[in-house]
Amino acid sequence: MPQKRIAIIGAGPSGLAQLRAFQSAAAKGETIPEIVCFEKQSDWGGLWNYTWRTGLDENGEPVHCSMYRYLWSNGPKEGLEFADYSFEEHFGKQIASYPPRAVLFDYIEGRVKKAGVRDWIRFSSPVRWVEYDDASDLFTVTVHDHAKDHVYSETFDHVIVASGHFSVPNVPHYPGFETFNGRLLHAHDFRDAREFKDKDILVMGASYSAEDIGSQCWKYGAKSVTSCYRSGPMGFKWPENWEEKPALQRLEGNVAHFSDGSSKHVDAIILCTGYKHFFNFLPDDLRLKTANRLAAADLYKGVVWVHNPKLFYLGMQDQWFTFNMFDAQAWWVRDSILGKIAIPTDKAELMADVSARVAREDAGTDAKYAIQYQADYVKELVAETDYPTFDVDGASEAFFQWKKHKEKNIMGFRDNCYRSVITGSMAPVHHTPWKDALDDSMESYLRN
Ligand SMILES: Cc1cc2nc3c(=O)[nH]c(=O)nc-3n(C[C@H](O)[C@H](O)[C@H](O)COP(=O)(O)OP(=O)(O)OC[C@H]3O[C@@H](n4cnc5c(N)ncnc54)[C@H](O)[C@@H]3O)c2cc1C
Ligand SMILES: NC(=O)c1ccc[n+]([C@@H]2O[C@H](COP(=O)([O-])OP(=O)(O)OC[C@H]3O[C@@H](n4cnc5c(N)ncnc54)[C@H](OP(=O)(O)O)[C@@H]3O)[C@@H](O)[C@H]2O)c1
Repeated sequence: MPQKRIAIIGAGPSGLAQLRAFQSAAAKGETIPEIVCFEKQSDWGGLWNYTWRTGLDENGEPVHCSMYRYLWSNGPKEGLEFADYSFEEHFGKQIASYPPRAVLFDYIEGRVKKAGVRDWIRFSSPVRWVEYDDASDLFTVTVHDHAKDHVYSETFDHVIVASGHFSVPNVPHYPGFETFNGRLLHAHDFRDAREFKDKDILVMGASYSAEDIGSQCWKYGAKSVTSCYRSGPMGFKWPENWEEKPALQRLEGNVAHFSDGSSKHVDAIILCTGYKHFFNFLPDDLRLKTANRLAAADLYKGVVWVHNPKLFYLGMQDQWFTFNMFDAQAWWVRDSILGKIAIPTDKAELMADVSARVAREDAGTDAKYAIQYQADYVKELVAETDYPTFDVDGASEAFFQWKKHKEKNIMGFRDNCYRSVITGSMAPVHHTPWKDALDDSMESYLRN
């Protein structure tokens, strides 16, 4: 029997989880397929691989990174810790609970460096197209190798799409945008809050980007922050120079008009209006079309493409749990490829699984329900593989506390600490309150 070949698209946290899953099986003496991971960027880490670039990258590809300078984790690290590689193992000590981007990048990288899987990745290699052939039962993957400036195709038994879904911006239009005289950008292109020092800024949206980018700008000296919502307010106790407004209606010059009849002069508008699931390398029959929700459309067990179960997707859900959920998915996908988990052959059964997940998500209305829902999903997958069992409910508890801490003090929630469900130890209090910690380097953060 020829060895199976597996293509993984993307070397962000999800793709790297898949590499680690296969490597851990190999380390236990199991025979694994040949793995090829294609990564568009020149390094791994996905969104966590920061670049100053916006627009197009050095190869003319759309820049993937949506992260910015001074970004700190927006949830406690105790909710995302790898069960097979703790923060203490990586840093040699317990660290505070809301690490900046560089610290989390180092942690993500540490596990895969230890696993020795870098050689499985072809960097600067965007996948251009994927096609499935019924007759041969194989996928043809077409790739642009930018190092050689060469486009080539190879065949694979399975394709695992791990290309992320927070990179292609959703950019609405509002009347007056074209004649606005200030800076107008989407969160995807936001890089440095200092640009907005002493400015009156408008952040559109009422989710994590609006909250965090507004908070960054506030922290680094914006004169005022106005945020506006379409469905409902964020409703935190904002500092006095932050005002929350209902929907934007139009701009007249630099004056923003809102649906309650009020208006505000603004110097800059940052569209924190979310992202699109966007897969320009997939034909209709393989391409996921879903809202950003916990029960993604057309994915059995949240990972198997119901219309062709040889194709898998990782990390396509909206995310409370991140790294540990990607691990649970990657271990499960690995075991189904290795034949240890059977995927039902009846399509109706696959689709019934999706419908049940959608209905269960729709039955809840609050964040606590949603966190519990995703925790149950993680538990479900972990129970079916040899991924180290961990206290998922304990991780949920960190999220419940986090929600309360945000309600209490939106500019101070990152000063709290939580207990690791992997090692049982309590995180230390960070040496500087978040609002005063202007240096987000790893050296500074680790100086506990
Ligand atoms: C601004 C922002 C802040 C966030 N902060 C946090 C946080 O604090 N904590 C947290 O847990 N999560 C956070 N997240 C959530 C984030 O989605 C996950 O942490 C994680 O990065 C998702 O991993 P992923 O591998 O699924 O996707 P990504 O990280 O997006 O990685 C996908 C990879 O696929 C590659 N790729 C894409 N298309 C192709 C192609 N055609 N060919 C080859 N390669 C391709 C990309 O270059 C990239 O490396 C944040 C997200 C955003 C946008
Ligand atoms: N520091 C950090 O760690 C950090 C920072 C930023 C982001 N993130 C992560 O990034 C991910 C994405 O978050 P996100 O906030 O960018 O996206 P999101 O959660 O999908 O939210 C999008 C927001 O845009 C609004 N919106 C969409 N279209 C609109 C329109 N046409 N007009 C007005 N408003 C519109 C939505 O309003 P409706 O509710 O009305 O749809 C919603 O409030 C999350 O996983 C988050 O955790 C993390």
